Amino acid sequence: MSKRYKVAILGATGLVGQRFVQLLESHPWFEVTALTASGDSAGKHYREAVHWLLDSPLPPSAADRLVSRTHADQVDADFAFSALDSGVAGPIEEEFARAGLPVVSNAAPHRMEEDVPLLLADVNPEHVALVPEQQRRRGYSTGFLVTNPNCSTAGLVTALKPLDDAFGLDAVSVVTLQAASGAGHPGVSSVELLDNVIPYIAKEEEKLEEEPRKILGRVAGPRIEPTSVVVSAQVNRVPVVDGHLESVSVKLRGKASPADLARAFAEYTSEPQRAGLPSAPEFPLVVRRERNRPQTRLDRMASGGMAVVVGRIRRCPVLDFRFTLLVHNTIRGAAGAAILNAEWLAKKRLLVPRAQTGSVGAGEEPRFVGSGAPT
Ligand SMILES: NC(=O)c1ccc[n+]([C@@H]2O[C@H](COP(=O)([O-])OP(=O)(O)OC[C@H]3O[C@@H](n4cnc5c(N)ncnc54)[C@H](OP(=O)(O)O)[C@@H]3O)[C@@H](O)[C@H]2O)c1
Repeated sequence: MSKRYKVAILGATGLVGQRFVQLLESHPWFEVTALTASGDSAGKHYREAVHWLLDSPLPPSAADRLVSRTHADQVDADFAFSALDSGVAGPIEEEFARAGLPVVSNAAPHRMEEDVPLLLADVNPEHVALVPEQQRRRGYSTGFLVTNPNCSTAGLVTALKPLDDAFGLDAVSVVTLQAASGAGHPGVSSVELLDNVIPYIAKEEEKLEEEPRKILGRVAGPRIEPTSVVVSAQVNRVPVVDGHLESVSVKLRGKASPADLARAFAEYTSEPQRAGLPSAPEFPLVVRRERNRPQTRLDRMASGGMAVVVGRIRRCPVLDFRFTLLVHNTIRGAAGAAILNAEWLAKKRLLVPRAQTGSVGAGEEPRFVGSGAPT
């Protein structure tokens, strides 16, 4: 099977970067050709530069690769995944886009910019319509920026989308219990976090309150008109490694029962499922009927970590309904979401192998070899 796209992972040594390396190892379309990080890591073999923390072995093809500096002229790739520290990602990602490389990013700086899609391919696939306008406005040729949301937002909006579609959403209250890996590595020190719950994560509540309004918004010409849904968020860091649990209450516009909500969650599918994209879970939401699920340790790897698990759906005496959800923060909430976004961009012919950019016109089908390639 021929892999058609050469991809760079920017910030490959961090926790999300490691997930990209793991998930892309056997990807049918994307071949990793560059790993980048800070000046401290550049020039080292990846196995020396990374503190590998995942429970599968470090892939040999990545282990022996030299880490590059994070500059567009240092990588040979068709596009880049960014897992850069949010403090440095903004200008670096713009440099790559200006140099002609699309950037599919996990980082926060560009998420709320008017011409940048804040995309979860199975929630708001139509938001890729912003890309041509972004290229025009910013003078990018083949490059562009697409972002995926904050990890807690990714879980929350996946559950809100079918409710908004079926019943109309009015207001949301969410309380999160977020894993240590959400803070990256080394992140929160073990002395602070073990035997403890920390009721504060910098800028997290703001992201949870703002990002869903853009994601659930509608394309209005060259911009997204945000939804009127109001979100109230309270966040906590808890001593688990992976998986953000969220207690959610919702106020709906239409009438429904708990069984109606369960059906709306369980039956929800979107474009990536219909297109059969390689990283699309069969269903974005998995409903657990047991009264004590989802649980972080038991449920975070549902559908390879790409499904959001929902349970405890019941009436709420303050708003209308409440439920619990679980999202794997570095897979569905980060690297896995970005990979699915890139598959959707390829399917929409917005990502084109560079070898073909001279020969393939806009809207024309690139030629793919082997099964599993975009059609
Ligand atoms: N962790 C999550 O669950 C999660 C979920 C969604 C989104 N995100 C976002 O994804 C991004 C990565 O998160 P993470 O948890 O993987 O963070 P992390 O573990 O701290 O990794 C940060 C990465 O950025 C690199 N870096 C730092 N400064 C740099 C510079 N000046 N130039 C080039 N590279 C630089 C680091 O390289 P060195 O090793 O060389 O320092 C490392 O590879 C962040 O923007 C974060 O907000 C994280």
